Amino acid sequence: MIESNIKVADNLFLSPMGCGTWAWGNRFLWNYDPTMDRELEQVFNLNVSQGVTWFDTGDSYGTGKLKGRSETLLGTFARKYQGDHQNDITIATKLAIYPWRLTPQSMINACQKSAERLGKPVDLVQMHWSPAKYLPWQEKPLLEGLAQLYHQGLVKGIGLSNYGPKNLQKAYDFLLTKEVKISTLQIQYSLLSTYGLTKLELKPLCDELDIKIIAYSPLTLGILTGKYKNLDDLPSGARKSLFKSLLPKIKPLLQAMDVIGKNNGKTMAQVAINWCICQGTIPIPGAKTLFQAKENIGALGWRLSSAEVMELETIALGLEKQMIQNIFQTT
Ligand SMILES: NC(=O)c1ccc[n+]([C@@H]2O[C@H](COP(=O)([O-])OP(=O)(O)OC[C@H]3O[C@@H](n4cnc5c(N)ncnc54)[C@H](OP(=O)(O)O)[C@@H]3O)[C@@H](O)[C@H]2O)c1
Repeated sequence: MIESNIKVADNLFLSPMGCGTWAWGNRFLWNYDPTMDRELEQVFNLNVSQGVTWFDTGDSYGTGKLKGRSETLLGTFARKYQGDHQNDITIATKLAIYPWRLTPQSMINACQKSAERLGKPVDLVQMHWSPAKYLPWQEKPLLEGLAQLYHQGLVKGIGLSNYGPKNLQKAYDFLLTKEVKISTLQIQYSLLSTYGLTKLELKPLCDELDIKIIAYSPLTLGILTGKYKNLDDLPSGARKSLFKSLLPKIKPLLQAMDVIGKNNGKTMAQVAINWCICQGTIPIPGAKTLFQAKENIGALGWRLSSAEVMELETIALGLEKQMIQNIFQTT
């Protein structure tokens, strides 16, 4: 099952799928409760043992007093884990672009705090979003901070998130003057969020600049798994109204995913994730339970045919509605 890791920087390799951990500490959207920690550790262990060795987190993950919880849990689990691929465990964190982070040193301090919570250095540090839309002059000093983190050997690679092509090219050019290359770009990408690659045409630019695309929310927060079928069985919280408006409009896609899944002996979640891989991205589905982790890992080791990839894309692009975009996504 294990597929080769992808080289994203000299000393940094990512498995072709990672595991997202936004839910690990987030009560507001994801109903996190500390009683989940035991199972989250099993999720971590299963992923690593099966070669899914990298985890995406963020220093803003965890609501209220639980801020930083995702990083703390990852650090604890990584320290305790013993078994296959132990030495390949890789943590990518995202530093939030808070308005009080204004200097290169503020990013260095933030990354050091993340490393403290992890109990080990951050491997890949990412700008969580760009301030280009609302405070453009904040951007360069923070990028400079990432460059310094790289040159000081505190991280193995640097990445961006929620950047569009114009903004990405600018950041790339600026970082080149600091002698650092961007390794990854993380964007919202799934069968219900094709905006980044179709409308923004990020793929050709990333290929040209040798930047790997990381697909976040590849299951569109869970709706593409097909488990939320009826309007009266939606998750509580913020996802409820979002799914309520999406569900009636996406039936043709869910039906096609179901048929294609069955033809391949796979589930809809596996089809959704595999589709992202077939588009040349590295998906990071979030998993809260061992069952979900097992299922998501089953998205590796096989590929949809190009006809199936195209069929799904055609249906997805013809839908009346897609997922809303992240407000911080730039052009
Ligand atoms: N850069 C950014 O701005 C940004 C933004 C968002 C996310 N991210 C990253 O991307 C990661 C993944 O995105 P996401 O967590 O937003 O959404 P996602 O991966 O599309 O969906 C994850 C959710 O779907 C459900 N699920 C997962 N696997 C399942 C399965 N096999 N069967 C049934 N249900 C399943 C779980 O929630 P329920 O069980 O509650 O349904 C899970 O929390 C995040 O964890 C985070 O690391 C980054």
